[in-house]
Amino acid sequence: MSLSKVAANASANRIIQSDDSKICVVMVGLPARGKSLIAGKGMFNPPPPFPILLRTIVDGYNIAMRYLAWVGIPAKVFNVGSYRRSNTPQPSATFFDHHNSEGERMRRAAAEGAMTDMIQWFAAGKGVVAILDATNSTKDRRKWIYEQCQANDIETLFVESICDDEDLIMTNILEVKTTSPDYKGQDPEMAALDFRERIRNYEMVYETIDDDEKKYTYVKLINVGSTVIINQIKDYLSSRLVYYIQNLHIKPRSIWLSRHGESEYNLTGRIGGDSNISERGEAYATALPELLYKSGVPPNTKIVIWTSTLRRTIQTARHLKEKTGFEKLEWKALDELDSGVCDGLTYEQIAEKFPEDFAARDEDKYNYRYRGGESYRDVVIRLEPIIMELERSENVIIVTHQAVLRCIYAYFMNVPQEKSPWMEVPLHTLIKLTPRAYGTEEQRFKADIPAVSTWRGKGTSAKHQEFPAEGQSAQH
Ligand code: F6P
Repeated sequence: MSLSKVAANASANRIIQSDDSKICVVMVGLPARGKSLIAGKGMFNPPPPFPILLRTIVDGYNIAMRYLAWVGIPAKVFNVGSYRRSNTPQPSATFFDHHNSEGERMRRAAAEGAMTDMIQWFAAGKGVVAILDATNSTKDRRKWIYEQCQANDIETLFVESICDDEDLIMTNILEVKTTSPDYKGQDPEMAALDFRERIRNYEMVYETIDDDEKKYTYVKLINVGSTVIINQIKDYLSSRLVYYIQNLHIKPRSIWLSRHGESEYNLTGRIGGDSNISERGEAYATALPELLYKSGVPPNTKIVIWTSTLRRTIQTARHLKEKTGFEKLEWKALDELDSGVCDGLTYEQIAEKFPEDFAARDEDKYNYRYRGGESYRDVVIRLEPIIMELERSENVIIVTHQAVLRCIYAYFMNVPQEKSPWMEVPLHTLIKLTPRAYGTEEQRFKADIPAVSTWRGKGTSAKHQEFPAEGQSAQH
């Protein structure tokens, strides 16, 4: 989608930024502190098994870029290391010694290359957030970045990752840096030794962001977010990013997603409304506590139940609440996509009454807004606080609706906007999502209770059908 369209949508919804906002997120910190991963360097691909301590960093990496993509903010990482690698693919630690003037010159050239490309990228209207991924570890370097950005109307947000947890640093050195292209094909032990030497060279000149730099907008994350210092956040998007990064945690947890049990409207193929669940829906509600435990719930785990404010989700969670005694919250933001004037109609009736709307929705389902109702984009925007809260939370089961579930699922599983509205999320199926080192693991548990299918393929006004027969894949 073009930036102007993004900006138009954003300003129409008054949530994101003005059309011309440009933010450069400047990573700051010694090597092996997880900066590249928080920033989202695409080449990161370490082998399993992966230590739990790194999970936040890896999640940070996945999540920061994933979050921006999900809210529709065009973003790009400019990794200074990859500019440097075009001239010096595999330097030894001495290259990073500040007494090495040739090394200094080449590193400076790499920083300038990344800066030039970033400025051009913004000038071409290609994006809203750039992430400048490098150590940026001296005051001089930060001053230069700040001035370059100021001169080009780009806001800066410095994100410093400080870590004095030796175990975490060592794990990072061994697991991450020995898989870096800088050490490709080299003996991992030798690579780790050299990398430690490189870090020592950086330590000699490293200056943490301090009081002289109070005019900058910055956030300091100390030991994987156990302490967070925030200075001078001026705009909405920066504050969202900072709030977001700050809420990431390393505790193992799962998130379960379920649609409500089959509803009376589902039976007749009607969309929207606030109908009760059907007899089969009630059977699913009764089976849900057992299905949840069958999916694997560690002993003494507390799970919070979230529903929408509509009858069908509240009725579906009733037995779950009664049997487990778990806390339950109802969220208006989890209500189904508002289908406006089409509420209560079947797809066939919509195709007949509003043929142009029906075609327009198929053409661009993510952006199509029902007359007097919502689009998928609108739903994502209203779900943002839900995602923020989910990131802060531990175990949660969300009982919600087809469109809302697609949006939440898309966030965790990184599904592109154009695909998410077409995903199949059948009734009477529990989806368990568990964050892992590389991303999110998904498992589906189907209750043995039939239900109609409410899925409609592009270009059809298909009547709702019976639940797919056994053996047919319900996963997409
Ligand atoms: O049919 C069930 C339902 O939850 C409707 O209430 C809602 O309008 C629809 O699904 C959303 O799915 P789609 O975007 O594919 O029409």
